[in-house]
Amino acid sequence: LARDNGKLWFGTAADIPGTAEQTDKDYLRILTNPKNFGEITPANMMKFMYTEPQQNVFNFTGGDYVLNLAEKNGMRVRCHNLVWSSQISDWVTSGTWTAATLTAVMKNHIYNLVTHWGNRCYSWDVVNEALNGDGTFSSSIWHDTIGPEYFFLAFQFAQEAVKKTGKDIKLYYNDYGLESPGTKTTAAYNLVKELQARKIQIDGVGLESHFKVGGTPSVAAQVTAKKEFLDLGVDVAITELDVRFVAAPYYTAAGEATQAQNYYDSVASCMQVGRRCRGITVWDFDDKYSWVPSAFTGQGGADIYNETLQRKPAYYAIAEAITDV
Ligand code: G3I
Repeated sequence: LARDNGKLWFGTAADIPGTAEQTDKDYLRILTNPKNFGEITPANMMKFMYTEPQQNVFNFTGGDYVLNLAEKNGMRVRCHNLVWSSQISDWVTSGTWTAATLTAVMKNHIYNLVTHWGNRCYSWDVVNEALNGDGTFSSSIWHDTIGPEYFFLAFQFAQEAVKKTGKDIKLYYNDYGLESPGTKTTAAYNLVKELQARKIQIDGVGLESHFKVGGTPSVAAQVTAKKEFLDLGVDVAITELDVRFVAAPYYTAAGEATQAQNYYDSVASCMQVGRRCRGITVWDFDDKYSWVPSAFTGQGGADIYNETLQRKPAYYAIAEAITDV
């Protein structure tokens, strides 16, 4: 529906390979059905700790697996991510660095990943989750060692690497808390402007959209936030959509109806701003393997398929949102 109605993608994160998902036939049948998903984002396998486990020793196996699976089924891949505070190899976090030596590490990592996978990646999340709620840069080994300049350097290195490939690869900033107007959204808006002022490539901003049932921003707020970015000339995408229950029960008719409306509203906000909202990705499609319960004790039921991989009302609400606009 997404492809036909708006030439946008509708995709999902998948934590594969090396997990139970890899051999779950029912899971795989849903994941690889192009009628369900036109895009995959690897939930883990392209992150630093998996791709550069030892300095300058690269492991592309997990990322290749996801790319092969996606390509076989006609799906695109948003590659995720190059620079983040989390899931970094021990040799980085326990190393002794100066700004110059750590900048060289970051550059080498970015160059290798971007040039290796080329435009098999539709896009790269170049920097992931760089901001605190108050709009300041959050702490990370990159920020704390290199300073705020790390952010601009990461995009500069990604741009240089893209140039080497000669391919069209979109470069994104990806974060949560940018789904409605506010201090953090304004800070991200200013980062985009600063990159543009320095003539450094930035093509889009990923609005993660990890929500709580009954607690999502209004459609109007979600539309306004997206428009703020679009007005700067960059694309937007909903990159990690899920709507979790903060407590059980997760499967009452009333709860599922509210959740379905929350999914509808978010997808509708993407549809309403036009096709430069390029697509929507849910962060895990199923409650069976969702990241939520292990990250937030007692919370769950966040996804569009339940624990037995049956479609929930949210699945159908998304289809309606895509076709309503
Ligand atoms: O690789 C080990 C494995 O060897 C071990 O047996 C297993 C036992 O728990 O853990 C495995 O590592 C887990 C990893 O996912 C791979 O499955 C980690 O414990 C677990 O913490 C990690 O969680 C990931 C999380 O990022 C880390 O922060 C989630 O799967 C992933 O969905 C999540 O994704 C992030 C996005 O990248 C950025 N935005 C927020 C989003 C949700 O947190």
